[in-house]
Amino acid sequence: MIPLAALVALLFSTLVHADEDIYVDGALSGGWQNWGWNTVVDFAATDLKVGDSSILATSQAWSAVSLKDPATFGSYAGLKFDIAATPSQLQLYLESTADSVQSPSIPVSALGTGINPNSFTTVVIDFSALPPSGAPLGAGTWDRITWQALGDGATYHLDNIQLLTSIIVKPQFLSAEPLANNLIAVTTQGAVDFKNVTVSLNNTPIKVTNITTFSPADTPSRTINYLKLASNLKAGSITIKAGTLNVNYTLPAVQYASIVTAVSQPISPLIYGVNWPTSASYIQQLGVTLSRWGGNAVTAYNPFGDFTNAGSDWYFENRDGGNADSWIGWVKDAGSKAMMTIPGLDWVAKDTTSYSYPKTIYPDQQKFDPYKPDAGNGIFPNGSYVQPPPDPNRGYVPWNTTAAKKWLKELKNKPEFLFVDNEIEIAHATHQDIHPQPVSYDEELSRVIAYAKAAKEVLPTTNIAAPSTCAWWFYWTSAIGYTDNAAHGNVDFLPWFLAQMKSASTTAGKRLLDYLDIHYYYAPDTGANDAAAKALRLRMTRSLWDPGYVDESWIGTNKENHQPNQNAVWLIPRMKQLIASNYPGTKLSISEWSSSNDGDVTGGLVTVDTLGIFGRYGLDAATYWATPDAKGPVGLAYWLYRGAGTYFGSKTAQVNFANSDAANTYGIYAATEGSKLSVVILNKDTKPLSFDLSNLPHATYFMRHFGGAAGVAKWQTTVSITNRQYIVVPSYTAVFLRQA
Ligand SMILES: *[C@@H]1O[C@H](CO)[C@@H](O)[C@H](O)[C@H]1NC(C)=O
Ligand SMILES: *[C@@H]1O[C@H](CO)[C@@H](O)[C@H](O)[C@H]1NC(C)=O
Ligand SMILES: *[C@@H]1O[C@H](CO)[C@@H](O)[C@H](O)[C@H]1NC(C)=O
Ligand SMILES: *[C@@H]1O[C@H](CO)[C@@H](O)[C@H](O)[C@H]1NC(C)=O
Ligand SMILES: *[C@@H]1O[C@H](CO)[C@@H](O)[C@H](O)[C@H]1NC(C)=O
Repeated sequence: MIPLAALVALLFSTLVHADEDIYVDGALSGGWQNWGWNTVVDFAATDLKVGDSSILATSQAWSAVSLKDPATFGSYAGLKFDIAATPSQLQLYLESTADSVQSPSIPVSALGTGINPNSFTTVVIDFSALPPSGAPLGAGTWDRITWQALGDGATYHLDNIQLLTSIIVKPQFLSAEPLANNLIAVTTQGAVDFKNVTVSLNNTPIKVTNITTFSPADTPSRTINYLKLASNLKAGSITIKAGTLNVNYTLPAVQYASIVTAVSQPISPLIYGVNWPTSASYIQQLGVTLSRWGGNAVTAYNPFGDFTNAGSDWYFENRDGGNADSWIGWVKDAGSKAMMTIPGLDWVAKDTTSYSYPKTIYPDQQKFDPYKPDAGNGIFPNGSYVQPPPDPNRGYVPWNTTAAKKWLKELKNKPEFLFVDNEIEIAHATHQDIHPQPVSYDEELSRVIAYAKAAKEVLPTTNIAAPSTCAWWFYWTSAIGYTDNAAHGNVDFLPWFLAQMKSASTTAGKRLLDYLDIHYYYAPDTGANDAAAKALRLRMTRSLWDPGYVDESWIGTNKENHQPNQNAVWLIPRMKQLIASNYPGTKLSISEWSSSNDGDVTGGLVTVDTLGIFGRYGLDAATYWATPDAKGPVGLAYWLYRGAGTYFGSKTAQVNFANSDAANTYGIYAATEGSKLSVVILNKDTKPLSFDLSNLPHATYFMRHFGGAAGVAKWQTTVSITNRQYIVVPSYTAVFLRQA
């Protein structure tokens, strides 16, 4: 007789599918195919562990092994594989080819500890809690798994790749750390028991008097539990035991700072912007106040058909550019202001299919699109541009200010901001096919003036932002180089441009430039993302404001420009000075910037620091490049300040630091809204820091935080600060407090 339990198991197993092998030895199974690119793959390489063979992949930068399921795998519980790789070289994501959607990229370093290139490590990815955030993959027609090399390329092994029908979640305490003045924040998975959690401070047990639990909507498989202690935290050593978790921290002596609400200036609401938000709910969740339609492709946007061209970003291929008018409509309806770009060269895309450098015409090119093998990158194998230059009529139709005015007139939805093109100073590279000549000072100015006049004629109240210069080098010179400066009295580009725009505006009888717009990407190389690179990334925000911070990149030694204090970027005060001396009244915007790493918690902390600095130093507008993952570290930095459910105040409050080295180790930003104070504290250090914040009112505060041992997720609670002399912020954590 078959026991009932076995019978049930037997019946059950006939109803659900079994685990599915994707790769075991020698070949892909079950109709799976490799859709990877620019990667040499050996499916029968020497094994490092069990069986006869494994997959050996050697990928160029940004190339991949990409395994495609003939069916969809959305009903499986997870994915298991063995990997031997250098974790920092590789990431993984899942895709639906039918719906063109992609999961967030998962750094291989977030898949577990011990992954190394010399031996296999088994990895399980639970689709209900993707690392590192713990967000679920969600429903979808998922059918593709991609291991993608990062910028340095990668050589690695994979083996025993399998879809799992079930993953048993073991109830577990995942992390525990001291927070604020009397809390232990504990993250958990599954149904854990809190009875046995013990906390002792300097070897004296402290009672837990209350536990509140927060279960974030984005990461429902994990909760955070705030254990309120019977006494406040203080310097010393704290030990927390919870199940098998046993952790301890040194609680250090305090860092002193004081908050002075009387010293204050407005924070521009427009600094919390992004390029290309994905949806109305994205705008609302993150509190995105400003949305930009920008980047290289918009230079060739043809509004009469919605075509565009990718330029050098992707083989000079035309494609669907989306509809600008409806885009402005929905971003404004979602509560954001809209920044639109007017093309400023002489050509725009004519369709969604043409491209500038067909192999049939230019057989001898360095690279061709792996997905469209006739489209080349326009460069000879020796690195010089192909000759003769292509006929622009192949992919484009003419464009001028008459066309621009017609388009702007017809827009049903009017943008609050208009840019004259994008990084026009490097058109000879990004749009080599239609503008092979380097753009000079004079050409750039005349294009900006012509399109600014056209725009103001049709939309007189729109703000004009220009010249959206890409980087430090081009703030000061043109693509022609310093001979162009010499031809203009050795006046560097941006000051010259501002003075010229002032005089053109006087002549026109109206302001032709409302915002001096620049792009700013932190110049230091933090690509290694190791401990030193992370510390550098967290320091480099000083380049936004600190005249004493010699940039830790080539900028710190280059002497070609004619600016004062030329090796410190000192960005916002420097630009404000240039404006004050050359075209007073112009506002300042940064329409592209980036944390330098969207996936790492330190990138999120750079974003928190940067948004705080933008407010403190009076920047007028800014938009992140581009579309940070709403559940990732950068998205959470936006959520922290202005995301749904709270609000960092609209007026700054001064923060005075006792420690002159504060900016390398932590940041504190304060603001008021009416009589209520809000404070953001970020800890850039790899250990907890504690703070004595004089003038912080004893009160109840709404608190948000991300980072630290709790990881990157939307954690929040209500706390009462009864002791402002000892407030703990865990390592690599940003905390937001707002007086209730
Ligand atoms: C608490 O810990 C003790 C000793 O480690 C163990 O025997 C007991 O089962 C635990 N109780 C709970 C509720 O976890
Ligand atoms: C625990 O704290 C929460 C939030 O402050 C409160 O609503 C609840 O009443 C407290 N519970 C106990 C048992 O004190
Ligand atoms: C603190 O933790 C470390 C590492 O887990 C351990 O070696 C040390 O003994 C602990 N110290 C205390 C006081 O529990
Ligand atoms: C690069 O190759 C092209 C085509 O072979 C040739 O015409 C050109 O002179 C070469 N340029 C350089 C700098 O060698
Ligand atoms: C723009 O192009 C159209 C069509 O070629 C032409 O009729 C018009 O005069 C041009 N406008 C300007 C300002 O050059």
